[in-house]
Amino acid sequence: MSFAATLAAAAARTQDRLTAALADRADVPVVHAMRYALGGGKRLRAFLVLEGAAMLGVGPDRAVAAAAAVEALHAYSLVHDDLPCMDDDDLRRGLPTVHVKWDQATAVLAGDALQTLAFELLCDLALGEAAVRLDLVRRLAVASGAQGMVLGQALDIAAETAAQPLTLDQITRLQAGKTGALIRWSAEAGAVIAGADPGPLSAYAGALGLAFQIADDILDVTGDAAVAGKRVGKDAAAGKATFVSLLGLAGARARAAELVAEAEAHLRPYGAGAENLIAAARFAISRDS
Ligand code: IPE
Ligand code: IPE
Ligand code: MG
Ligand code: MG
Ligand code: MG
Repeated sequence: MSFAATLAAAAARTQDRLTAALADRADVPVVHAMRYALGGGKRLRAFLVLEGAAMLGVGPDRAVAAAAAVEALHAYSLVHDDLPCMDDDDLRRGLPTVHVKWDQATAVLAGDALQTLAFELLCDLALGEAAVRLDLVRRLAVASGAQGMVLGQALDIAAETAAQPLTLDQITRLQAGKTGALIRWSAEAGAVIAGADPGPLSAYAGALGLAFQIADDILDVTGDAAVAGKRVGKDAAAGKATFVSLLGLAGARARAAELVAEAEAHLRPYGAGAENLIAAARFAISRDS
């Protein structure tokens, strides 16, 4: 199957699992907001989980709960990222953000509940024995918390008012947290479920995550809100520290291309089986949304 078809299949399976997970919830605004926030998205993280698992011989029925979990965690991070106290955005995935459609309290609570939903999903017995599920839970807690995504988000907000521009090393650390940690978790999860060494997939995802965020920063400068589904042209005005702010567009593009080559090199041990993961790395920097 082509990369595009594999991504679409991963997205559809993951959406079904998320829909099923919320089928029994109360009919209240916070749950409506959770369903809304879970809709759309490229589902690249879900794809990484399912494709990594498939490459190591684990089918989607066993791995889909982990794909759904990381998309729930990611959706939470976006709902909170868009709040007025963070990036103050009114458009996400082509629709009004959750705090615009409902209100800030609903957005905070929907984000909170999406985060706990992620860990609920990782308790799914289909993922394997208790030690496997516990390893996925621990890794996701670390990746999303104060050593991972939350750390990156905190550094991102702090950089807006920093006296000095961040150095390349500082921006790399910021991006590795805010975007890289969940992408790394996604690529490692398939190996954890398969009982395989997550090392090569983790190294691949380290380079991929950085390239992915550089592409996001480039899109903020060159993209179109109608295509991207979110506002563009905001990072420089907000004083965000990005690869583009430091290296310029051409420099950022060159760095992203180097990182994709690096990501591909880490997949060599898997031979032809890694074809779709290689395509995903190329997609990460060529996308327009
Ligand atoms: C957007 O992530 C936020 C970043 C971490 C750069 P995506 O570009 O994966 O957003 P969706 O899930 O496709 O909407
Ligand atoms: C968001 O990064 C990262 C997380 C939500 C963890 P950005 O703030 O650059 O993402 P967009 O551009 O709003 O999607
Ligand atoms: Mg942000
Ligand atoms: Mg943002
Ligand atoms: Mg951005």
